[in-house]
Amino acid sequence: MDKFIIKGGTPLTGTIPISGSKNAALPLMAAALLGNSETTITNVPRLKDIYTFNNVIRVSGARVDFLEDQNTLKIDPANVSHLEAPYDLVRKMRASFYMLGALVGRYGKAKVSLPGGCAWGPRPVDLHLKGMKEMGINISLEKGYVIASADKQLKGGSFTLEPSSVGATINLLLASVLRAEKFVINNAAKEPDVVQLCNFLVQMGADIEGIGSRQLTIRGVDSLSGITASNDPDRIELGTFMIAGAMHPDSELTLTGCNPEHLGNFPGLLRRTGTQVDIDEDAIHIKAPETIKPVSITAEVYPGFPTDLQAQWATMMTQADGTSSVTDNVYYDRFSYVPELVRLGADMDVEKNTVVISGKTALTGASVMSTDLRASVSLVLAAMIAENTTEVLRIYHLDRGYESLENKLNAIGAQLKRTQD
Ligand code: UD1
Repeated sequence: MDKFIIKGGTPLTGTIPISGSKNAALPLMAAALLGNSETTITNVPRLKDIYTFNNVIRVSGARVDFLEDQNTLKIDPANVSHLEAPYDLVRKMRASFYMLGALVGRYGKAKVSLPGGCAWGPRPVDLHLKGMKEMGINISLEKGYVIASADKQLKGGSFTLEPSSVGATINLLLASVLRAEKFVINNAAKEPDVVQLCNFLVQMGADIEGIGSRQLTIRGVDSLSGITASNDPDRIELGTFMIAGAMHPDSELTLTGCNPEHLGNFPGLLRRTGTQVDIDEDAIHIKAPETIKPVSITAEVYPGFPTDLQAQWATMMTQADGTSSVTDNVYYDRFSYVPELVRLGADMDVEKNTVVISGKTALTGASVMSTDLRASVSLVLAAMIAENTTEVLRIYHLDRGYESLENKLNAIGAQLKRTQD
């Protein structure tokens, strides 16, 4: 297994290009199966999760060509015949569950493995299934698989997501755009990834009203065509590097090829720490403060603070001058990074869905263990400002979601070395 050896203490200066978004690309890939011709998606990151989903899609019989040097993916659903997503692949990546909506939506049948557990507590898919049942899709569970079938045209109806869910909104969109006469999703997610999917489906020929709002109304159409579209930049990678640029007093970074509008309330909160944040149309400049001010945040659905950035924020707060807290109202149990940061010298206490951080504490290198994608990157952030050398084990989590992480960070002054454990 690969690990990072990270020598800390150096400021970060220079420019980082932001990659295409993993979480936004995955639903587009599933949507490509709904078309009646080939779809081309550009700005797709070269990440393990994308390769995994390529393989999930290939199982169905679709042709997938990933032109890696161009970050371009071509998906041709002409030969789809095997309407199944097996456990072996779904367990590697939960988003494979989007195959359920895509396959039953287009072909009227699907057998998709239920995703397993997750490092950050329970992550149910009950809303995906209840919403599909409400639409008129027959759903049963058999030996860990969801078996779905649907008539050619369903009446539809409406379903309220409680809580609002990105994944369920995506699966219900995929299932309904070709099959439901009219289907209304209430309390729909309006994260940029969902908005991008809606626009992509509309470009294919779908009829969706209320894009970007909490209520989506879908009116089924007879067919959708393959299209060419560009994937959004990764807002979580962007936020992660913004935090990286704020943590060492001599750091100054420019992040290019991004979409600042996708950051919700994040830039305002980062400014409150004393960090200088200058926003252009597709670039952000960050200048670290001399002293980081403590700022408490709560992770909420978009446009609130993203749960995928709370671990990184808590890591930055270990260097703030005073006490702060990080609460996660989306995932209540997403604090597996805390004991690892404590091993480096952080002073943090978790109670229920809040971690209280007392700063500023000096961090000193040690061996730490990645537990999930965002937890792992928070360990890298900590290691880059820690004294001496830190060993971050099990970095395969990072390869799932950060394209060329060590190349990007080393190019701006960090010292990361990948070796075998
Ligand atoms: C997606 C992102 C993930 C991010 C999360 C929240 C991808 C591949 N993953 O995950 O990185 O952290 O959005 O922004 O895009 N819930 C239910 N029942 C369901 C579905 C969800 O109760 O059937 C709950 C969850 O437990 C959670 C909340 O809804 O408390 C939000 O989860 P959801 O938005 O569905 O997250 P994902 O789509 O899985």
